[in-house]
Amino acid sequence: MAGSTTVELVTAVSNAGGIGSMGYSETPTEQIREDAAKIRKLTDKPFNLNFFAHDVPSNRSDVVASTRERLEPFYAEVGLSEIPQDVSKPLLTFTEERLELLLEIKPPIVSFHFGLPEAGAVKMLKDAGSRILCSATTVAEAESLEESGVDIVIAQGWEAGGHRGSFDVNHDDHGVGTMALVPQIVDAVDIPVVAAGGIADGRGIAAAFMLGACGVQMGTAFLSCPEANLSEEHLEAIRNAKDDDTRLTKAFSGRPARAKRNPYIESMAEHRHPLPDFPTMYALSEPLRTSSNDTLDFRFLLYGQAAALNREMPAAKLMQTLVEEAQSLL
Ligand SMILES: Cc1cc2nc3c(=O)[nH]c(=O)nc-3n(C[C@H](O)[C@H](O)[C@H](O)COP(=O)(O)O)c2cc1C
Repeated sequence: MAGSTTVELVTAVSNAGGIGSMGYSETPTEQIREDAAKIRKLTDKPFNLNFFAHDVPSNRSDVVASTRERLEPFYAEVGLSEIPQDVSKPLLTFTEERLELLLEIKPPIVSFHFGLPEAGAVKMLKDAGSRILCSATTVAEAESLEESGVDIVIAQGWEAGGHRGSFDVNHDDHGVGTMALVPQIVDAVDIPVVAAGGIADGRGIAAAFMLGACGVQMGTAFLSCPEANLSEEHLEAIRNAKDDDTRLTKAFSGRPARAKRNPYIESMAEHRHPLPDFPTMYALSEPLRTSSNDTLDFRFLLYGQAAALNREMPAAKLMQTLVEEAQSLL
C-alpha cells in the first residue's frame, strides 16, 4: 500500500510468517535501495516490493481544460485560487531505473498493479531470481498474466480498498466481486491464485481457501496496525467505517480507486465528466486533497468494504490472530 506501508509493517508481517509488501509509487530509487537494505536487516524471510505499471497518459487538452473548469468551484470552496498549470506529474510507473535497481537488489518477490511492464523486464527479473506477482480483476486479465510468465496471480475483487488493478480503465468496469472472481480465475489458470478484496479476518481467509486460493492479500486490515503510516483522520474514518461508506472513484487520480465517500467524490460521479488519465488527475486534485482546510470533503481516504471488521493491534499480533482464526475454521 504505497504511502501506508512502512519497513516496520513489512518486516513484522514477514517475520510472523506472511509476506510483507512494500508499495512504491513516487518513492525515489535511492529510498527504495535504503528500504530494501533495512528490510533485509530486520528479516531473513521473503518480502515483496510492489510497483505500478501504468500507460503513459494520453490526455486530451479539451478534457484537461474542462476538468479545470469543473474543479474551479471546489477550489473556491476551500479558498484555493490556482488550479495547477503544470499537470505533467512525474509518471508513477516502473522505469528502467527501477528495473536496474531491482536487478541489483534481487528482492525475493516483485509485484505489479495495473498490468505488467514490458515482457523483457519481467524476464530479466525472473532470471535474477525474483518471483513475479500481478493483480487481475477479471479472468481475461489473469489469463494474460499467466501467458506473460507471471508466477502467481492476485485475484482482486471489487470490494478491495485502494486502486483497482485493472489494466485498461477506458471501458465500463462492472466490478466482479471476490467471491465470484476467485474460483473463476482458479479454474482458468494453472498458476497459483491469491485472493484479495474484503478479506478482514479468519473467516475471509478460510473462505478464500475454500474458493481455491492458495493465499490471501490483505490491505485494509493492516491499516489499523500501529506500524502503518496513516493520518489520524484516515484512522478515525476506519474506526467509524460501515459496510457501505466507500465507493469507486476516478476523481482523485484518474484511475478507479475505492475510498471513503465524500461530497467531492459524489459530485464528480454525478456528472460523469471524462477525466484526464492517471496520474495527470492526481496533479489536478493535489491541492484539494492536501489542503490544510479541516473539512474532510476532499480527503482521499483509501480503504475497502470490510474496514468495519478492522482490529487495532500490532501487525505480529494481527498475523497470529488471523492464522489461529483461519486454522480453527479450516
Ligand atoms: C490504502 C491502500 C493502498 C493501496 N495501495 C496499493 C499499491 O500501492 N499497490 C497495490 O498493488 N495495491 C494497493 N492496494 C490494493 C491492495 O494491494 C489489495 O488489493 C487490497 O487492499 C485488498 O483489499 P482489502 O483492502 O479489502 O484487503 C492498496 C489498498 C489500500 C487499502
